[in-house]
Amino acid sequence: MINSADFYYYKTIDSTNSEARRKIGEGISLPAVFVAEKQTDGRGRRGRSFFSEGGLYMSIAIATSEKDTVILTASAAVAVAEAIEEAIGITVGIKWVNDLYFDGKKVCGILCEAVTDKESGRISSVIIGIGINLNVTEFPEALEGIAGGIASDGISRKKLAEEITERIVTVLDAPSDIIERYKKRSIVLGRDISYEKNGTTYLAKALDIDPSGGLIVQNEDGTRAILSSGEITLRII
Ligand code: BTN
Repeated sequence: MINSADFYYYKTIDSTNSEARRKIGEGISLPAVFVAEKQTDGRGRRGRSFFSEGGLYMSIAIATSEKDTVILTASAAVAVAEAIEEAIGITVGIKWVNDLYFDGKKVCGILCEAVTDKESGRISSVIIGIGINLNVTEFPEALEGIAGGIASDGISRKKLAEEITERIVTVLDAPSDIIERYKKRSIVLGRDISYEKNGTTYLAKALDIDPSGGLIVQNEDGTRAILSSGEITLRII
């Protein structure tokens, strides 16, 4: 059973994931949630930066020894999608693993990071970082046509952050039907995709999600593979 979370709010911070890591190092009690309006050094996956000007940027730190970040990440995507639907009333789709899309554009990215205990060397907690382009209407040129915003419909950052936290804590506590809920929102299943592995690009069709959140694909040569990390690109043909 996960206890109720402590919330920390910031107008501007370097990165809520970094702040969560620092505070975990200071020994705060978990779960804890770090919420900001702006990040000066927002991080995305694969070392990319994450545009963080005026949306909702939050990190939920949870004590866990869970190593399987794919299912954790998939669960977080479902929880955030359901929270947005409940609070704002729009349906967002999930692009494997955990990008949320609305109207053909990415409106939310999720970055899960594990924290290792210095003494034991074991994973002691995870940080689930969520960036939502809430009420963001202008993006840098490089993100034009790729990133989109969602209007909050009067819902405050605080309220949405609380709703998301409650759902994530509930989902991680009892992940019932999570794969079915994930599949229902997938914008990838049945689509032609491409992915990269060891420097080679593969063309494939996305078939299914396996019980641990992996993406089952059929390659062009008819072989099947299960992707458990990395990124896929949707092909428009
Ligand atoms: C991605 O799409 O590549 C993941 C983006 C994750 C961004 C969030 S915003 C809150 C948290 N703090 C960060 O520095 N990154 C995550």
